Amino acid sequence: MSETAKRYIDEYFGQTDITELVRTYGSPLYVYQEALLRRRCREMQQLVQGVPFAAHYSVKANTNLELLRIARDEGLHADAMSPGEILALEAAGYDADAIFFIPNNISRDELRFAADRGILISVDSLDQLDLLGSVQPGGRVSLRLNLGIGAGHHEKVITAGDDTKFGITEAQLDQAQAIARQYQLTITGLNQHIGSLFMEPAPYLAAAERLLSAARCFPDLEMIDFGGGFGIPYHKMAGEARLDLAALGSRLSEMAKRFASTWPRPLMFMTEPGRYIAAEAGLLIGTVHAVKQNGPRIYVGTDIGFNVLARPMLYDAWHDLLVIRRGRLLPQTGLETVTVTGNICESGDQIAADRPLPELRCDDLVVVLDAGAYGYSMSSNYNQRLRPAEVLLPESGRPRLIRRRDTYDDLLRGMLFPVESDPAD
Ligand code: LLP
Repeated sequence: MSETAKRYIDEYFGQTDITELVRTYGSPLYVYQEALLRRRCREMQQLVQGVPFAAHYSVKANTNLELLRIARDEGLHADAMSPGEILALEAAGYDADAIFFIPNNISRDELRFAADRGILISVDSLDQLDLLGSVQPGGRVSLRLNLGIGAGHHEKVITAGDDTKFGITEAQLDQAQAIARQYQLTITGLNQHIGSLFMEPAPYLAAAERLLSAARCFPDLEMIDFGGGFGIPYHKMAGEARLDLAALGSRLSEMAKRFASTWPRPLMFMTEPGRYIAAEAGLLIGTVHAVKQNGPRIYVGTDIGFNVLARPMLYDAWHDLLVIRRGRLLPQTGLETVTVTGNICESGDQIAADRPLPELRCDDLVVVLDAGAYGYSMSSNYNQRLRPAEVLLPESGRPRLIRRRDTYDDLLRGMLFPVESDPAD
């Protein structure tokens, strides 16, 4: 593992001095590598061959405008979950026809927000279809289906099957068609998302097969979207294998080609990768501020609270950790089992529980790998803490700040105190 870790740090940082980065931009700090981001974009762009295909970056994974710009530059389209994500995409230069809106349980105003912009909207319940019909009679719509196959790294992120809030089920398809007719909506798209993070192609392909067979009942289809969920190896220091994207892609291409050859009109196929695009390009660096023994455990206290990286706390998610001391990677020798914590006032505030790591000391830097997806985008100001800066390591040139750290003014902005003007008055 020492060799793997050393290669990883050398390849990721190149000539960039990690300690200097933290000195310049503060700790904790999110860092993104442009070359890796572009590589993942290209892999996803090439996933399906032989039919019209667009990979839509699911921007909830990371909404930094610079990352959105790079993904667009690589030719990706995008899927958005909220008006805020649509605004971010517009700011990064995406046209309406490169955006697919896939919301859940939204208001009339939010539907109108996307409809007024000419963005294709997916609805995932009969009530939302009815609402969209009243907002945009005679318009086009995509239906998000839940055809019973789910997958994901944690029950909280499995988004199809019996036990989730998502999607229109097979049993509701006739009703959906009736509502669409009532408002003269044309169902031009079908989409699904089975959940987040699968490492084997099988569930995704089985679900894709089901979607294609449901598609036969929708004669006006112009688009079929198989969803996201493509996993990345979070245990890469232990040699975890990558998802076999080539195998998945060639099976998916075969299925899509077969279907398209029987379809009487042009058909666009889509996917919605989020994590696969952004996770590995990003990492998070924090600083050790205290080490102590409490009861049976050694606690390493850092500034990476769960307000900065929520995944371990929310899903018991694993992130590989590496330790840098005075600019050098510590070798994986003399390991001791420690629990790495943050600076938030809850006992669950842990980045890693009972993890074998080199003996840590104050001022060591902890590097959290694969933090580019659902890292910053799920961060918060809990405990009135500042969200960190984000820095890009460009393909050439010096590191560049792409989001400044919060300021203490940011934390107070928006609170009406002392009471001066209430917008409701
Ligand atoms: N499409 C839809 C409709 C989604 O809801 C999602 C993710 C995606 C695509 C992208 O999924 P991906 O390719 O990134 O797996 N916070 C969790 C993951 C939540 C995913 C939510 N939806 C985590 O940190 O693991």
